[in-house]
Amino acid sequence: MCGIIGATGRSDVAELLVEGLERLEYRGYDSAGLVLSGPGSLWRVRAAEGTTSVGALRTLAADAPDATTGLGHTRWATHGQPAVENAHPLFDCTGRVGVVHNGIIENHAELQADLLAAGHTMASATDTEVLAHLIEAHMASGLGLAESVRAALGEVRGSFSIAVVSADEPDLLVAARRNTPLILGLTDGAALLASDIPALLGRTERLFVLSDDQLAELRPGSIRVTTLDGRAVDPPALSVDWDLAAAQKGGYDDFMSKEIREQPRAVADTLLDRRRPDGRLALDEARLTDAELRSITRVHIVACGSSYHAALLARFAIEHWARVAADVEIASEFRYREPVLDPEALAVGVSQSGESLDTLLALREARERGARVLGVTNVVDSSIAREADGVLYTRAGPEICVAATKTLLAQIVALDLLALTLAQVRETRSPSEISATLDALQRLPAALEEVLSRAKEVDDVAAALAASRDFFFIGRNVGYPVALEGALKLKELSYLHAEGYPAGELKHGPIALLEPGSVVIGIATRNPLWEKFRANIAEVKSRGATVVLVANDGDEAAEELADHVLWVPEAEHLLSPVLDIVPLQLFAYRLARRHGLDVDRPRNLAKTVTVE
Ligand code: AGP
Repeated sequence: MCGIIGATGRSDVAELLVEGLERLEYRGYDSAGLVLSGPGSLWRVRAAEGTTSVGALRTLAADAPDATTGLGHTRWATHGQPAVENAHPLFDCTGRVGVVHNGIIENHAELQADLLAAGHTMASATDTEVLAHLIEAHMASGLGLAESVRAALGEVRGSFSIAVVSADEPDLLVAARRNTPLILGLTDGAALLASDIPALLGRTERLFVLSDDQLAELRPGSIRVTTLDGRAVDPPALSVDWDLAAAQKGGYDDFMSKEIREQPRAVADTLLDRRRPDGRLALDEARLTDAELRSITRVHIVACGSSYHAALLARFAIEHWARVAADVEIASEFRYREPVLDPEALAVGVSQSGESLDTLLALREARERGARVLGVTNVVDSSIAREADGVLYTRAGPEICVAATKTLLAQIVALDLLALTLAQVRETRSPSEISATLDALQRLPAALEEVLSRAKEVDDVAAALAASRDFFFIGRNVGYPVALEGALKLKELSYLHAEGYPAGELKHGPIALLEPGSVVIGIATRNPLWEKFRANIAEVKSRGATVVLVANDGDEAAEELADHVLWVPEAEHLLSPVLDIVPLQLFAYRLARRHGLDVDRPRNLAKTVTVE
């Protein structure tokens, strides 16, 4: 999604903005721009060259005039094609107001009609441009920049984080947000803003969160925050335990290979210090008392994309260990079907970024319907972390590659901890059973190291299948969410047709698609349905498909059935997905690299999806 960076009071502002945009590229974008403000005029450059746009801006910024205040933006197109005229910053009619925006102005068509009738001219096809003209109109009526922004926002519906500059108040940045993130930073003599943390890492430790319906005025060395209706507020400090090195490639070719390699650590850190001295599990940040955990009648988990796959796995864990009914739903569907929740329900939102708007809004819906809300996220103080009643942090460190890898594995084990905590309190598993499972979880990082050491074997399979175009990922039981994740990774990274199916469902329709040349990748590690799964594999083989199996070391039956086997060590059946997913990540990664694709920034995708 769109990325925003801004600074005032910095003599190196152009370089700071370009560097900030480079750090925001991972969010996914198609065009970029920046504006510097000086007395009497704004200076703007924009580029629409896909994921090389920030590089183009770096060249253009070499001609930047002296300035100390400015804004930068990476755009992920919603309204209006990726094109220079639609790239932000967008200007008003006079060229004296510049706006960058992340989100969607839902009533832009009505506002635009009114503005056109009043004599304004539009230079872009975006929803954002109306903001620049509304601000222009309020400034023309005598209001200062901050009050004009406040008045303009009173007229819009939708979601936004915005930042605005004006040639009339060249040292001032005005920012505001509703439903999409914005953070503020303060140093002696300067003030900064950004849509997310990596852009400001290493710049200052004095970071603050701008909350919904708040407006910030940033001047060199000072920040003033008010609500949109004008009340002064102290923004909460943002605690960040990531360092800049963690958000850099550190010698790897790309962030994806680095983050795949970091998975053993991500899992180990997520498991760290979760047991009290008496051996009992305690999830302190979750802020759920034993009495509350005992009274839960149903768990509703909402999530999107890979996080949804973690949620599907959590359902197995919660129902098996804690014997509590669990529902899992795609977050964007949840709130629009009038869900029935009782007050004893626990709603769990799983989101690595903590900012996916679909998940945030689904959790709000759950809360309005009386449920207690728990967020599972990788980003401290993200919107979901702040709005939820409690939070369970994954400790994977910053994930920059658009495709989720280490955060997904961390989510799976974090949700296992939640399931085991429920089991402990409700006494559905004995202390020794829980302790044995925790020990098994602790063994996963070493097993992951073993899986990662076999990357070359995965590469050989990717080489053998490099010309294939149709991939079906199938699994049963916990293998099904693993299959969905394998297909999603391949789609995202390689742009190849890939579908994830429950293996037993194949015969009800999709098997018609199979023909010689199709590739079926089966998750064949041991689970209670392994025998039945073997029959499903025989069905696809007899249709001429090439079969790849993810199987446990030493499984001769798998070796006989498959054309290629991706071997993984055996783990307890509910924990096995943590290992089984890794060869599929490596497979998608290697295939994308073989096809010469940008694995970190796949086309059309955004790391943090802050629109509905
Ligand atoms: C995963 O590889 C994707 N990039 C995407 O599906 C992602 O998992 C989804 O957008 C959810 O993001 P979140 O975890 O930040 O909410």
